[in-house]
Amino acid sequence: MIQTQATVVEKATIAPAWWRLTLTAPELPPPLPGQFLLLRCADRYRCYLRRPVFPIPANQNHFNLLLRPDPDPGLAWLSARQPGDTLDVMGPLGNGFPLPKSVRHLLLVSDTPDIGPLLGQMERAIAVGVAVTLALGASRVSRLYPVAALPPVVEFQAATLDGSLGYRGPVADLLPDLLRWADLTCAAGSLTLYRTLRRQLEQARLRAEADFLYGLNAEPLMACGVGACLSCTVNTDTGPRLACVDGPVFDLVKLNLEL
Ligand code: FES
Repeated sequence: MIQTQATVVEKATIAPAWWRLTLTAPELPPPLPGQFLLLRCADRYRCYLRRPVFPIPANQNHFNLLLRPDPDPGLAWLSARQPGDTLDVMGPLGNGFPLPKSVRHLLLVSDTPDIGPLLGQMERAIAVGVAVTLALGASRVSRLYPVAALPPVVEFQAATLDGSLGYRGPVADLLPDLLRWADLTCAAGSLTLYRTLRRQLEQARLRAEADFLYGLNAEPLMACGVGACLSCTVNTDTGPRLACVDGPVFDLVKLNLEL
């Protein structure tokens, strides 16, 4: 983990209210999908804590950030950055998603727009010839990651509560068959989705299988990022763990998902 300056080299609009910020940080060790950076925001009065952001690894010391409008003043500040701006970041921090060599079919699932870590895992898997299915759910199509921005090799399945794209209903309804197809599942979403995934895993594969279902748990406040403040404690089968050090990616079979 290092503290360094990242320079914005490109800002692209990939759909209305969806932006991709491309940065370069030559000194930063390459992050894994699911690892995070702590970003210092310029407005110190409203943003005295660094914000965790999830880099999507790219080529040659570059990484991308997926941005959406956000009520958080720190992330709103980030969304306004332009090429040439520099960002103070610390990282990479935490543990990212695994991708064992034995995996041939990767299922990616989300019910939120915050799918940056899944996009990184998608690119990583495609690069080694793994078949990828991405199942996304949202209330309406404008909250779904734009399909046109996905590589054609990815099988895309969408679910919207209002039926504006794909299946009408929750994304969890699409998953039982996909869980039988996959040999690794990675998710980034709500606790409700994670509980449903675990229940469906037991039904589809007849047992709660370890090392099959991983989820990004970014819910706890990650203030220090290095295990010092204990603000990010989560409960697991083997006792309390820190999301910033032991996660934020956890085996969902081992994570306590009750409130
Ligand atoms: S963020 Fe401080 S201990 Fe995890």
